[in-house]
Amino acid sequence: MGRFWCITVSATSADPRLEGRSVKRIVYTADEIAARVRELGRAITETYDSGELLILGLLKGSFIFVSDLVRTIQRPLQVDFLIAASYGTETVSSGHVRLVYDPETTLEGKHILLVEDVVDSGRTLSKVIDVLQTRNPASIEVCALLDKRIATFLKHPPKFTGFVAPHEFLVGYGLDHAENFRHLPYIASLL
Ligand code: IMP
Ligand code: MG
Repeated sequence: MGRFWCITVSATSADPRLEGRSVKRIVYTADEIAARVRELGRAITETYDSGELLILGLLKGSFIFVSDLVRTIQRPLQVDFLIAASYGTETVSSGHVRLVYDPETTLEGKHILLVEDVVDSGRTLSKVIDVLQTRNPASIEVCALLDKRIATFLKHPPKFTGFVAPHEFLVGYGLDHAENFRHLPYIASLL
């Protein structure tokens, strides 16, 4: 009686998907994510009351989020993906970006909703938007599952945000660490 219960580290270290590694804590459970994705879907449905909508997922991190999100949007839409790569070293973002996979779908005249797993510095996103603007879409907006609110210089801050995330390294629900942990149904903070 009167006790507080919380998810413990042992609960996640027992998860066979973690290969024996423990995570610091579960930040968002699968149920919390599902509830928030449904709210985002409702907001997106209300926002785009006319025109053609193209949901453009940034791979690879957005693949689970996109597949859940599109099933909550109650209007016609198209789905495509793009892969962006930054030039420069791995630790220093050079600010140059190149599309490794370019969407096959025509962008001209469409409302583009760019879907990102997590906005960190926001550098990738800004450069991708600059490239896409040259294709004459009707509009470009961003939907980010997580926003660490580190990026303050963004010309296009996310119009739709799932969660304002802590400044920790997060994995699961599409987010990886060295390509691992993308398949976790929850989002956890690594030790
Ligand atoms: P930005 O250009 O600095 O905003 O980088 C965003 C990209 O970095 C995201 O799309 C992720 O791929 C990656 N990233 C940033 N923070 C995290 C994290 O906490 N976990 C996993 N990947 C992250
Ligand atoms: Mg990513």
